[in-house]
Amino acid sequence: MSALLEATGLAVEYHRRGAPTLRAVDRVDLRLDRGEVLGLVGESGCGKSTLGRAVVGLLPAAAGEIRFDGRAVTPLGRRRRPRELRGLQMVFQDPYASLNPRRRIGEQIGDGYVLDGVARSEAARRAGDLLERVGLSANTASRYPHEFSGGQRQRIAIARALATDPSCIIADEPISALDASAQASVANLLVALVRELDMGMVFISHDLSVVRQIADRTAVMYLGRVVEVGPTQQIWSAPAHPYTRALISAVPRADGAGVLPVELPGDVPDPARPPAGCRFHPRCPLVRPECARHDPPLTVLRDGRSAACVLQSPGEPARPLAEPHPVSPSMKE
Ligand SMILES: Nc1ncnc2c1ncn2[C@@H]1O[C@H](COP(=O)(O)OP(=O)(O)OP(=O)(O)O)[C@@H](O)[C@H]1O
Ligand code: SF4
Ligand SMILES: [Mg+2]
Repeated sequence: MSALLEATGLAVEYHRRGAPTLRAVDRVDLRLDRGEVLGLVGESGCGKSTLGRAVVGLLPAAAGEIRFDGRAVTPLGRRRRPRELRGLQMVFQDPYASLNPRRRIGEQIGDGYVLDGVARSEAARRAGDLLERVGLSANTASRYPHEFSGGQRQRIAIARALATDPSCIIADEPISALDASAQASVANLLVALVRELDMGMVFISHDLSVVRQIADRTAVMYLGRVVEVGPTQQIWSAPAHPYTRALISAVPRADGAGVLPVELPGDVPDPARPPAGCRFHPRCPLVRPECARHDPPLTVLRDGRSAACVLQSPGEPARPLAEPHPVSPSMKE
């Protein structure tokens, strides 16, 4: 079965005046199937939003290929988004910024239909249906965005995205700006829509506990690369990449006991000048001498996941990671 969305060797660059070109996404392979939620996690600045924006055609690719619904949709260039990419919709962190404060929400949701030549009255009826689909009442269509809570506004933004009948949603931190009470309900709504409408969703989030709950598979990014990807439960129970382990060990446990984070020395390196060899080697608690020279590719392991680390071998079961060495003061500096 061909993937709904597939990126192969994808690179995305920012060209900055007076500064070196920043390759924010480098050699990324990613696959999303219909009906699937793929969580995308990693520290701030690792390239999650850049990757999301590139796959929906809002940023041009510097290298690689993107296929959507079996069709190649790269290179995208800087021209208008090609029409075939309307089936890919993005949901952003701040729904207020993406809604026009001076227009009734029903009209804004109906715009997608009107663009397709549907009469305004029919578009209004369909907008009402979409409002109900996202858990709001159809008769709220005549209200303005400021009359809603943050969670309700995000539901409106989701309804507007659905008006183009998308088969794939890229949700970039869609719940981070919401109250704790709205976070779970909006995340659950997105997952329910993915299942009901047989869409695919890339769910970008800082909140690893939410990703653990809702994502079928999880991709972990570090400094522009995907370093591990696979079924969420597998990754959480036995991470194959030292960076994945460090990330998830920083997440508090449900029983409140917390887990001692595997300490990572230093900050994330400058992505414009990534370290040679494995990009994670200056911070890796399991670093070996060869890691400074060898840049391990993302390789498929026997259990179906992929990891980019010299400790793992292609086609072999994921090797359990050893306890990290204590962090020496010199490494910390
Ligand atoms: N418009 C831009 N021009 C130049 N550099 C950019 C631009 N947008 C992002 N970057 C840089 O590209 C890298 C990746 O940024 P990106 O926003 O994709 O990361 P992210 O993983 O989404 O981070 P966060 O978790 O903070 O949202 C960062 O180093 C960032 O500073
Ligand atoms: S390749 Fe080496 S430095 Fe990179 S994650 Fe694996 S052990 Fe750590
Ligand atoms: Mg981001």
